[in-house]
Amino acid sequence: MHWHAMALRDLAHCRNAAAPLDVWWWPDALHPDHTTRRERIDAILRTLLASYVGRPAAALRFEREAHGRPFLAHDHAPDFNLTDTVGGALIVVAAGGRVGVDCERGDRHVPVAKLARRWYTTAEATALAALDDASARRAFLNLWTAKEAACKATGTGIFGYLSAWRFAVDASAAAPQLRDLPTDAGEACRWKFHRLAPTPAHTAVLACRDLLATPRGFVVTA
Ligand SMILES: CC(C)(COP(=O)(O)OP(=O)(O)OC[C@H]1O[C@@H](n2cnc3c(N)ncnc32)[C@H](O)[C@@H]1OP(=O)(O)O)[C@@H](O)C(=O)NCCC(=O)NCCS
Repeated sequence: MHWHAMALRDLAHCRNAAAPLDVWWWPDALHPDHTTRRERIDAILRTLLASYVGRPAAALRFEREAHGRPFLAHDHAPDFNLTDTVGGALIVVAAGGRVGVDCERGDRHVPVAKLARRWYTTAEATALAALDDASARRAFLNLWTAKEAACKATGTGIFGYLSAWRFAVDASAAAPQLRDLPTDAGEACRWKFHRLAPTPAHTAVLACRDLLATPRGFVVTA
């Protein structure tokens, strides 16, 4: 996916598509050092979502589903989801379906065998154990981002659901290949998964239910 640069000062004036599937990378460097995470995330969401909803940023109302998934409490508002990691935040905005997103740093140290036994299926843990260390770490992060993005689209949270979402064990940068999903997630054909690289240091997955459009990527700049 190609990422378009979008200057912060132009955000309020940008015209958003009527049925967006837009992914925004918002680098940490755009915020003053003294802001707290909460202030930073709230500012990002309000600034970005105001033009999609057609209301002033301060007038946006957010509510949360039972397991904490935030949504806009306005008629016909788009769905959105956010992931926050070292380096920046990734936000997806979509109309007509549900979206989830997870982003991790590619160089993140992970105790692969231990975490795979804890969170993944036995078959996935066995497949990871057969890989060399570097491939196992990449494949582990690929699985993690795909599973967590899927859980965030449904809003269930990861507990009890991470192992029910199964994907091919793959160390490449290809799109996640869905193998199985929880019974309450709907049919597999309703789902589409995209692998994203908002920076060379990050890997992310966008999970979409009932959204077949090709996502557009934007990097917010100073
Ligand atoms: C939600 C969860 C997947 C987030 O994981 P993470 O890697 O720590 O964080 P990320 O940066 O990727 O995402 C955090 C953002 O996801 C969103 N989010 C929170 N809960 C969510 C959910 N259930 N589904 C989808 N998105 C959610 C929020 O925007 C959150 O930002 P916030 O903390 O500013 O509100 C994880 O914490 C989880 O599984 N929580 C379950 C919570 C739960 O079941 N609570 C029960 C309450 S009754």
